[in-house]
Amino acid sequence: MGFPEINGKTKVCGLFGFPVEHSFSPAMHNAAYGKLGLNWVYVPYAVHPDRLKQAVEGIRSLELAGVNVTVPHKQNILPLLDEIDPAARIIGAVNTVVNVRGKLHGYNTDGPGFIRSLETGANFSPRGKSALLLGAGGAARAVAAALALAGVNNLYITNRTAERAADLARDVSQACQVVVQVLPWGSELPEERVAAVDLVVQTTSIGMSPRADQSPEFPFAALNPGQLVCDLVYNPEKTLFLQQAAAQGAKILNGLGMLLYQGVLAFELWTGRSAPVEIMKETLLKQVSGEVER
Ligand code: ATR
Repeated sequence: MGFPEINGKTKVCGLFGFPVEHSFSPAMHNAAYGKLGLNWVYVPYAVHPDRLKQAVEGIRSLELAGVNVTVPHKQNILPLLDEIDPAARIIGAVNTVVNVRGKLHGYNTDGPGFIRSLETGANFSPRGKSALLLGAGGAARAVAAALALAGVNNLYITNRTAERAADLARDVSQACQVVVQVLPWGSELPEERVAAVDLVVQTTSIGMSPRADQSPEFPFAALNPGQLVCDLVYNPEKTLFLQQAAAQGAKILNGLGMLLYQGVLAFELWTGRSAPVEIMKETLLKQVSGEVER
């Protein structure tokens, strides 16, 4: 990998999480800097939850160019920042911090990353469409807000814990003036609604390796060609959920594109340059398929 030589002018970005060892972001961003010959470096920082405040202060005092933020800090970091992007405010989570001369701006590139992956990976534009989300956790919040901001007409949310789905529906409908409806989970999910939506997004962790034999209960027979079915899980590459959707003729997309484009958008926020998407994608694929020793 083409690391720049580290010297007095090197700009530093990083990842705040706990743990951070398994993140693909350092490899993806460092490959991008190498490709463009930027004197930048991206470093993972294991920030204990009790130390988040000090770590955020460290962004200012060490003049880091910015950081990505991951579990468990995405929500807790909001009150520690100077400005929050409106979309990140709706989502209630920040995954990217930009240090603008000591003022820390919080963004969420997960949602826009998902929208970009729909466009590039499936040629799908959400405007005027209807979408059904499975799940109401952090990932679902990012996707729901991004779809609402991207102009979906109707949004449906189903979640094992109905109360969480109702909270998300309320937050998104208040912020975006879009009609959001909660539907029952599992076997009670109305087939006619599943048949009528343009997009289905599986945002829960069900089916993720090593539990690749699991899938949410879902009326797969109601799916049809012409619909796009996404699973935010990317390991395995094709979850059981996606396999069952594909068997009905639906177009399918996994979560790798969202992971790639959240990184692409963070890179662009920090550097102000167009990201070298191909090398970032290549690096990510190598990481995911375990070709790179960690
Ligand atoms: P993330 O940030 O990855 O979205 P999260 O905030 O913990 O993680 O949310 C996990 C989501 O997966 C939730 O929608 C959760 O449903 P509950 O709100 O009912 O907990 C869902 N989920 C996880 N495991 C599940 C399972 N075995 N069956 C149904 N839903 C599950």
